[in-house]
Amino acid sequence: MKILDILKKEELTKEDLLALMKIDNQEDLQLLFKKAYETKLKYIGNNVYYRGLVEFSNICIKNCKYCGIRKENSHVERFLMSEEDILQSAKWIYENDYGSMALQSGERTDKEFVDFVEKILKKIQKMTNNGLGITLSVGEQTYETYKRWREAGATRYLLRIETTNRDLFEKIHPKDETHNFDKRLQALKELRRAGYQVGTGVMIGIPGQTEEDLVNDIIFFKENDIDMIGMGPYILHDETPMGQEFKNNILSKEKRVELGLKMIAICRIYLKDINIAATTALQGLDPEGREKGLLAGANIIMPSATKTSERVKYQLYNGKPAINDDAEQGKKSLEKSLKNIGENIVYGKTGDSPHFFSRKK
Ligand code: 5AD
Ligand code: SF4
Repeated sequence: MKILDILKKEELTKEDLLALMKIDNQEDLQLLFKKAYETKLKYIGNNVYYRGLVEFSNICIKNCKYCGIRKENSHVERFLMSEEDILQSAKWIYENDYGSMALQSGERTDKEFVDFVEKILKKIQKMTNNGLGITLSVGEQTYETYKRWREAGATRYLLRIETTNRDLFEKIHPKDETHNFDKRLQALKELRRAGYQVGTGVMIGIPGQTEEDLVNDIIFFKENDIDMIGMGPYILHDETPMGQEFKNNILSKEKRVELGLKMIAICRIYLKDINIAATTALQGLDPEGREKGLLAGANIIMPSATKTSERVKYQLYNGKPAINDDAEQGKKSLEKSLKNIGENIVYGKTGDSPHFFSRKK
């Protein structure tokens, strides 16, 4: 079947999704992006919502083989932002009308950390009169912890499954109890039960990952009724096992960006009203990656609001962008480039997932 005919269908089968994922020429690719953008216009409008990103600690108990801040990387200078600095970032995000913020860090499950996050959430909500949407992205926790943080004011939680191919998951993580595929699945269910808008996502272009794997990822998002998606291309980091193993054996940057954009577009077409982020990793491989992501159907941008001095230490992969920009400068240049591509930045609204509320009705 022709790509155009697939794009006209109301319901897409797995074979359709695979045909879209395997598009190998510019003409069909543009048709795919166009259809995805039309779908975005229909369900979301030409609107883009911000989540001011605060990467508040790079301390992590895990050892994911792809990640630059994995526990065993002794070259990383570890930090935890002070309560005062986090609150100041939150204030900046609030006063600049970003509407939402994302608190992200390495994974820790100790009591001190759990209490710290809870206290921060309460203070942010008090300071802003419950005026900020807050996304947490701090890894796998107990159900009790999810509940406590939900009650303290977090409304969304992002926990990536990284890949839904169990074998591949096991290849890119150490084989032990802290890196367990079933536990990750369970965590996503518990987050839903705790009342969050639930986000997940995958890395794209992992060595060994097939186009069918990526299609299965998208079907997984649908089957699990996911509200938001954050995904991006896999990028090497020198000081990691995978960074070493695959440094001469990885898809080109262009191919990974293209696959990333295809993922966004097919997710938009297939899942319709969910929030999809154009992530920093996309920008990491292509200076215009985020803009291209929006034109392929994404509607969320996460501009960094972390202090410049700490940003340098939060290196998940080589060449992470904008580590030297400050938040103020970043805001201006982003605004300009988004206007250039015809996107409407929605200030002052939380930009919750429409999908979450359509389920609630
Ligand atoms: N390349 C791309 N994304 C990465 N992440 C971690 N390491 C890398 C990398 N080398 C992503 C993972 C994780 C999130 C915090 O960052 O998907 O969930
Ligand atoms: Fe830690 Fe997340 Fe990096 Fe894994 S991906 S090592 S959990 S920060």
